[in-house]
Amino acid sequence: MRIRTMDQLDLSGKRTLVRVDFNVPMDKSGNVTDVTRLQAALPTIRMAVEGGAKTILLSHLGRPKGKRVPEMSLAPVAPRLSTLLGKQVRFVPDCVGEEAERAVAAMKPGDVLLLENVRYHAEEEKNDEGFGRKLAALCDVYVNDAFATAHRGHASNVAIVKFVSVRAAGLLMKDEIAYFEKALVSPARPLVAVFGGAKISGKIEAINNVLGKVDKILIGGAMANTFFAALGYGVGKSLCEKEMAETARQVLAGAASRKVRLYLPVDVVVADRLEATAATRTVPAQEIPEGMMALDVGPASSLLFREAIQDAKTIVWNGPMGAFETAPFAAGTLAIMRALAESDATTIVGGGDTDTALHKAGLFSRMSYVSTGGGAFLELLEGKRLPGIAALEE
Ligand code: 3PG
Repeated sequence: MRIRTMDQLDLSGKRTLVRVDFNVPMDKSGNVTDVTRLQAALPTIRMAVEGGAKTILLSHLGRPKGKRVPEMSLAPVAPRLSTLLGKQVRFVPDCVGEEAERAVAAMKPGDVLLLENVRYHAEEEKNDEGFGRKLAALCDVYVNDAFATAHRGHASNVAIVKFVSVRAAGLLMKDEIAYFEKALVSPARPLVAVFGGAKISGKIEAINNVLGKVDKILIGGAMANTFFAALGYGVGKSLCEKEMAETARQVLAGAASRKVRLYLPVDVVVADRLEATAATRTVPAQEIPEGMMALDVGPASSLLFREAIQDAKTIVWNGPMGAFETAPFAAGTLAIMRALAESDATTIVGGGDTDTALHKAGLFSRMSYVSTGGGAFLELLEGKRLPGIAALEE
């Protein structure tokens, strides 16, 4: 894969359109509640500004489906970004058309503009060529730094590329690709994958793909219940995709035939409902009582998982071990995060929920790398070629 990166370009005086992923959470009053994605884009923006570029930022926010939905405006992001950057970021209420063109024409080297939500235009998600051409007309250089959007083939990351002669990956995109390669293409071994989350159906392709690459695989979260069902254990009223039991059996067989060590929880925390006030009990995985649900891995499993990653040189983690948002069921996720934080391995983490859990525990900075991508990271784990990255290849 040959991808040029922005540090190889002379951006001085160039109108540089940077596709960022500012799809950030906002509260009802329009305040950005998590600036991780804004911070992640700062090195790229700073490099463009310091290189004398006229930096034009383009992003989506939410899924407005081609309409101007006021709650999904990027306007509140501009002042927040200005503060983080220490430099004024002007907001333009559209991403194409006269107003955008005038604003770009008035830019001086070093200026930064943020354009309005690109998904206000239905052509974006249709990967419409004409719309890609319009976006391209705003710039001399195109930089894609929106790794978290790379699994979407849209006009602002695919169609646009045909109409700009100079294109490159931004610094965040470069890091995301480099860490992913460190994790799954040429990892230091033993390589351990840790999967959690609610459903095996959403992660089965990723699990199957990594089975051919990892030395060990650890499975927690509600998806472990499907493995329990596959092994013939009762799961009470736990969340469980019984129709996936055969698939889970195939994963177990696939791991055995490849000599990949697969670890399932040996105990679980159960309750009769997912509520902070519910009475909890720890039981062996084989003994989930009727009328109860498994909501977290138990302490013996946390210890087992900690021991299983002890000799790891690389760990890839995706998905929480339990219903961590509710206090009595957070311990398993906290334990795996601590185990990763204390490990000497390169730790690479991806997935929206996982990031939230790390932030909550104050352990975000203790990981070697936390991907900004949820869906995009998962699709890479599935072994897919992401359209946003493919479009940058020479
Ligand atoms: C994300 O948050 O995963 C990306 O911004 C992509 O958003 P989407 O799922 O709405 O395409």
